[in-house]
Amino acid sequence: MSETLLAMRNLKVHFPIRGGLFGRPVGWIRAVDGVDLDIAVGQSVALVGESGCGKSTLGAAILGMQRPTSGTISFEGKPIFHGEAESLRALSRDVQIVFQDPVSALNPKLTVGESIAEPLAIHGVGNAKQRKQRVGELLKLVGLQPGHAARRPNAFSGGQRQRIVIARALALNPKLLILDEPVSALDVSIRSQILNLLLDLQQRLHLSYLFISHDLSVVRHFADRVFVMYLGHIAETGKAGDVFATPIHPYTEALLSAVPLPDPAAQRNRRRIVLKGDLPSPSNPPKGCAFVTRCPLAQPICREVPPPLVAVSDDHQAACHVRAPQSGIAASSAQVIPAGSGKHGEPI
Ligand SMILES: Nc1ncnc2c1ncn2[C@@H]1O[C@H](COP(=O)(O)OP(=O)(O)OP(=O)(O)O)[C@@H](O)[C@H]1O
Ligand SMILES: [Mg+2]
Repeated sequence: MSETLLAMRNLKVHFPIRGGLFGRPVGWIRAVDGVDLDIAVGQSVALVGESGCGKSTLGAAILGMQRPTSGTISFEGKPIFHGEAESLRALSRDVQIVFQDPVSALNPKLTVGESIAEPLAIHGVGNAKQRKQRVGELLKLVGLQPGHAARRPNAFSGGQRQRIVIARALALNPKLLILDEPVSALDVSIRSQILNLLLDLQQRLHLSYLFISHDLSVVRHFADRVFVMYLGHIAETGKAGDVFATPIHPYTEALLSAVPLPDPAAQRNRRRIVLKGDLPSPSNPPKGCAFVTRCPLAQPICREVPPPLVAVSDDHQAACHVRAPQSGIAASSAQVIPAGSGKHGEPI
């Protein structure tokens, strides 16, 4: 059994909609609405789903930046206390984040060396000379030169800036990196370079990753485990190979149908599942299954009862009344479209 680094249990993050008398809440945005998620030491976990489904909010709760409404998150067996400065300070050594946009992530007035050394200075690590040396090591680690430390961010391309952001995130030797759409803002031609760098760093430094993305094709080569999120809930989770080869939830299936296949013949025969409508508002979610308003398989029960996550095979769970009935029996073969069918679930 691999060692658990992070354990999230029934996490809820609800934002108040203010507008009543004296700014009292008149409603709630249920951004994250009861999520269980574990990350093991050295594991790469992908969190995927459409814009607005709650991915970044969940990441912010792990970082201690967003106080949960309820539920718990523990790191190395210790609960994260969101209000306590000391707990959050300790956490910030172990958990770091890389955001989508490397341009806004770097202060244009600071040299690259100053930016990378910032977390070291904040945590009082080393003296100025030692920090300078560490900056040089970190730049080399991400494929840049120690001499680059003296330059400002505008002297670098988008891909190089993201390398600098990654170097800064690694400065304190974190155990977990939250990668929030780390390549989405980059030119397609350099995305794979950054993904390869992240894979290489993970192996060398034995890092754990929470890789947040709306794009399953990015996650394909990257993740050990996938969590598919929809409107604050986990719709499906399992080993990446299982989820890609045999998606259970119709939402996962729709997301996967948009991922290009490496085999041109299979790609020609692939049927793209286009979901109707938009993600419902998290301030007014459907009563039963969150996906019911867009689901091609919806049954009367789906409008009434939220489906629990049910095991469909070893280490693979889905929340779907139709495909993963609550009896715990795996969805029937008539309902699961096997990999290679050429309709929905082609092998990836
Ligand atoms: N501070 C906040 N106050 C109020 N609502 C918020 C706040 N932060 C996020 N939300 C809302 O919570 C929901 C989830 O937002 P979140 O940013 O977590 O989604 P996401 O999955 O990361 O989307 P994207 O892919 O666009 O980054 C959205 O409806 C968003 O408008
Ligand atoms: Mg986001």
